[in-house]
This record gives sequence, C-alpha cells and structure tokens, in this order.
Amino acid sequence: MGNTVGFGVIGCGVIAPWHTQSIRDIPHARLVAVCDVIPEKADSLAKDAGGVRAYYDVDALLRDSEIDAVCVCVPSGLHAKIGVLAALAGKHVLCEKPLDVTLDHMDELISVCARQGVTLGCIFQRRTQKLWQAVRDAVQGGSIGRLILADAYIKYYRSQAYYDSAGWRGTWELDGGGALMNQGVHCVDLMRWIAGDPVSVYARCAHLARKIEVEDTACAVVEYSCGAMGIIEATTSVYNGMDHRLEFHGETGNVLVEGARIVRWETEDGSGPPESLVADDPQAAANPADIGIENHRAQIKDFADAIIQKRAPLVTGVEARKSVEFILGIYRSSELRQPVRFPLT
Ligand SMILES: NC(=O)c1ccc[n+]([C@@H]2O[C@H](COP(=O)([O-])OP(=O)(O)OC[C@H]3O[C@@H](n4cnc5c(N)ncnc54)[C@H](O)[C@@H]3O)[C@@H](O)[C@H]2O)c1
Repeated sequence: MGNTVGFGVIGCGVIAPWHTQSIRDIPHARLVAVCDVIPEKADSLAKDAGGVRAYYDVDALLRDSEIDAVCVCVPSGLHAKIGVLAALAGKHVLCEKPLDVTLDHMDELISVCARQGVTLGCIFQRRTQKLWQAVRDAVQGGSIGRLILADAYIKYYRSQAYYDSAGWRGTWELDGGGALMNQGVHCVDLMRWIAGDPVSVYARCAHLARKIEVEDTACAVVEYSCGAMGIIEATTSVYNGMDHRLEFHGETGNVLVEGARIVRWETEDGSGPPESLVADDPQAAANPADIGIENHRAQIKDFADAIIQKRAPLVTGVEARKSVEFILGIYRSSELRQPVRFPLT
C-alpha cells in the first residue's frame, strides 16, 4: 500500500460519485475500481471516474490486490453484509450512513473488522464541518452553561417518485426506516455528538403521506445523559421541505442552527462563533443529491489518513452504531407505545 490508499467503490448509485470524485481529489488516495450488480451502472461510473476498472460482483472486486479499502455505497440494509465480506478479504471498510439498520448486523461488522485488524469508518460528513465542531465545542465546553433543551426539527420533502425510484427505498429490510433512518440520521448523529447519548426516549412514528413501509413522520421526546431534555421531529412529507433546525439552549446561552447557518448564538459572557463559520451549503432538504462534495472529501481524506497513520478514523463503527441505536430506540418506543431506555437490549 505504501503511502497511497487504493480504493474500490461498491454500489454505483446516487451517492457513489461523491466517493469516486473525492478519492480522485485526495493526493494519497487512488481510485482503482467500482462495482455494481447492474453492469451498465458500474461501466458508466467507471468511465466518468477516469476509466477505472468496473466489476459486476463484489467478490471479483475484493480479489483485486490493488484495492486496500472499500467505500460501501449499497442500500443501507446491505452495508454490514458487504462490509463483512470486504473485511474478510483484508480490506478497510468505509460505510455510507447508516452503518447498517440492525444491531446484530452492526455488531457483526464491528467485530469482524476488529478481528481482521482493518479500519472501519462510517460517513457522517457533517461532522467534518467547522460549524458543527464549533457548536459542539460551545455546548460541551460550557459556553451556554448547563444544557437544558436540545431539539432537532428535520422537516424535509421526498416525493413518492423518490421512494419508487429504487426498490429498497422505504422498506424495513433495506432502508431500515424512513424520515429518521435515512434522511434524519445525520441530524440525529449531530444531536448525539453534541448533546451526548440519550438515556430514554418516548416516540410516535407513522407514515402519513407516502405509500411506504417505514415512517415518513416521527416525533420523539428524549432525555439525554447530561440531564437535558429535547424533541426530535422528522418528516419527509411536508410541502417543499425546509432546512433542519438544531437548537441548543443552556442556562447561560442559546445556539440555534438552521441548515448550515447560525441563526442565533448568544452567551451570557458575550462569546460568539468565529466569523469564518458563517457558511451556507445545501442540506438536501428536498433533494437527496443537493449536497456539496467537500464534506465527503474531508471525511474520506481522514479515513485514508487513519489507515496510513494506523489511528481511528473521525467516525468509527462503534460511534456510528450509537446513532442507529438511538433511532431504533425511537422505533421501539413507537411500536410499544412506551418509553424505551438505552442501551437497547
Ligand atoms: N451521506 C449522504 O449524505 C448520503 C446521501 C445519499 C445516500 N447515502 C447512503 O448511500 C447508500 C446508497 O444510497 P443511494 O441513494 O446511492 O442508493 P442507490 O439505489 O442510488 O444506489 C445503490 C446502488 O447499489 C447497487 N447494489 C445493490 N446491491 C449491490 C451489491 N450486492 N453489490 C454491488 N452493488 C449493489 C445498486 O444496483 C445501486 O446501483 C445508502 O445507504 C444511503 O443511506 C448517503
């Protein structure tokens, strides 16, 4: 491998070009091949990505000795299955979010990667943004005092045509959930990363507008381990969709973010966010492809660095698992119509 990491991208759908382009942009990463069970999709992405090799089955890609690491960009419920195969072939594994959709699958992936001595990471690209890092520093560093309320309002729009665009979308088995597990998982991850782990949740989930198995709307009341409470609302069915709002209220300050814009940052001691944080990039409120590439690039670069430097990546498998567990707790509470405590058993 030397000081360049050879990458293969598995799954050539909507998100795959963010991976292939990022890898091509990173000096110490090299895109070796892509793979899809639909040959035309593999061929087309391989061509767009500079004429790299195209494989039509995962085993063939995993036999390629120039590949050190794979990006897993297949439907969510297949992440662990493909990730385990890759780890058994000695490849490092970077999964798209969510890590997988069941605790058993994620646990198997985490333990096989550990046993094989390969690095496991999961894409939560917003964690690379200075904006969210500053919000986390402020909340965890005490700038807003004791945290009282931590709220996430995630009101997006996805049409029925979006759900119908691929057979796995909106199914329990392969999407693992809807407004929360697919679209809302980024914000749920940020809530956990900033406010801390949840200790309990009480929730209602339903599909109100779309013909899908999973929820298109969810409301949850959360208690965090720091003692704060909060609301998580998520939908993919409101008119036009709008930027998510994440709100952190403490005894001595408030920090509110809408999309990637700070809309309020007030602290008793007058400390504010660095000017450079006034950023604005698209957040996929109404279109899943409406996201920039720089955050994927930063996270994939970190993953390549982590492999070379033999250190943990920015988002480890264990860390990514916790955000899925948070969502699974919300689903369980809704199903049981009872509060649910963490960790889930
Ligand atoms: N980080 C983000 O912002 C972001 C955005 C969109 C999607 N995603 C995630 O990326 C993943 C893929 O989503 P998508 O929208 O690109 O889906 P998609 O349906 O557009 O693409 C998935 C591709 O995987 C292929 N595939 C399925 N099984 C395969 C297998 N066994 N081997 C090889 N290829 C296989 C399919 O043929 C398809 O081309 C999902 O887990 C999703 O949650 C993340």
